Amino acid sequence: MKALSRREVLVAGASTAALAACGGGVSMSGPMTGTATASSAAALPEGLPLLSLPLLTNMNASPGTFSAALRAATAQSEYVPGRMTATLAYNGASPGPTIEATEGDRVSIDFDNAIPGQPSTIHWHGLPVPADQDGNPMDPVASGARRTYEFTLPAACAGTYWYHPHAHQLTAEQVARGLAGVFIVRPRIDPLPGGIDEHVLLVTDLRVDATGTMMGWTTADMMNGREGDQLLVNGRRNPMLDAAPGATLRLRLVNATSARYVRIALDGAPMTLIGTDGGLLAAPVAINEWLLAPAERIDVIAQMPASTATPIALRLLPHDRGWMMMPGMASAPMLNQGALLTIRLQGSPKPAVKLPALLRSIAPLPAPIASKQLVLTERVGMMGGASMMSGGMMGWQFLINGRLFDPNRIDLVSNAGDVEQWELVNASSMDHPIHIHGTQFQVVEREAGGVRTRPAYLAWKDTVNVPRGTTVRLRVRQTMPGLRMFHCHILEHEDQGMMGVLRVQ
Ligand code: C2O
Ligand code: CU
Ligand code: CU
Repeated sequence: MKALSRREVLVAGASTAALAACGGGVSMSGPMTGTATASSAAALPEGLPLLSLPLLTNMNASPGTFSAALRAATAQSEYVPGRMTATLAYNGASPGPTIEATEGDRVSIDFDNAIPGQPSTIHWHGLPVPADQDGNPMDPVASGARRTYEFTLPAACAGTYWYHPHAHQLTAEQVARGLAGVFIVRPRIDPLPGGIDEHVLLVTDLRVDATGTMMGWTTADMMNGREGDQLLVNGRRNPMLDAAPGATLRLRLVNATSARYVRIALDGAPMTLIGTDGGLLAAPVAINEWLLAPAERIDVIAQMPASTATPIALRLLPHDRGWMMMPGMASAPMLNQGALLTIRLQGSPKPAVKLPALLRSIAPLPAPIASKQLVLTERVGMMGGASMMSGGMMGWQFLINGRLFDPNRIDLVSNAGDVEQWELVNASSMDHPIHIHGTQFQVVEREAGGVRTRPAYLAWKDTVNVPRGTTVRLRVRQTMPGLRMFHCHILEHEDQGMMGVLRVQ
């Protein structure tokens, strides 16, 4: 096919949009049929108390083990007051229950896929687990079937991770319908002092109409990744967190949205970054704002003032990620606005907790002995997926090294134990958060417009945003043999083929 310029496709898109509108080709199978219209979004209440996510109960009393069961099934959630929304949930909860285990633990999770008519998996995003326990799309659990995931959490992996389904071409749909949960690995010895109040903030977004019905995917969603009309924290919109004046808060933020770039600032209180995807930094870093791309996590300390009558907003800031429009389609997403979370100070004051100057040591990965390049591009082609994206429409495809995902093809090969440099080159017109399974990596350089910059500090990451026109260089070492996925974590891109397979030998 002749490559069209972006502009030509904007024009060509007009007829595609008309097709989509009459054919209903973008609606999902199953309970979520219907063509999305941006106008009928529901208004969700704000200011309700922040919910604590339920904890997954450890059924094993012996020390050093964590055993539990997770069942994925249909559920009902009340997002719009008085209306029930059909969702998917783990153990009846959406977001799913939080898993809390400790470094060195043997973890065993019995997974029961009770989702009608769809395979699923559980992927342990960011955790260094063996390849055959990582819930890859090549290891589906059929509808009605079960399997057990088993792995040992290695030393020094304490951090904030998450789990979600990863079935072939069904990830975006199953995550959007409600399947995601937090996985916290506690350290054996905690470098942080006591007295810090910790909160887990799982960010999801939702698109429901005024009757509470979850709406289908538009062509714009398939190209850009779907952003809901409502940004939720632990299932609620802009919830209220009560904190003591002077309290030192630890916020573990998880971006579990399909495609939303969550850029935040904390009004009225200083923020300190203490951790990223793979756990603590070497030393705390003061920050004014942060851009949390899909699938990324941060661990931040928020120091509450001794007194204030004004609630403190974790405020949303706009971010331009290269949204692509086609005439006649759903409008551009609402700009990030308002607050993600609001903190209200009340009760008796608490003394501030002083952070240690050093949190842990992070050794730089040594010089690479091999290198790989992933070039991210886009082209016009047929769009589609297994279920929600019934296919048959022209639109933008996103590729890695010129190819779409093929579960039967090995794209890259690495030797276990080798440090490699991966160069992620974004030659497309949209930002892509790139994720590598199986290990944590270190970003060493970014290059844009001929200017190279090095990060000011080392951090363990499993997902890195690669802005359009930018090259990111990172060092990575896989340690366990097997097949590993690498992909864009805009889940609609991943499902439509912006993914590859790395064989570690
Ligand atoms: Cu969180 Cu392969 O993904
Ligand atoms: Cu992952
Ligand atoms: Cu992408």
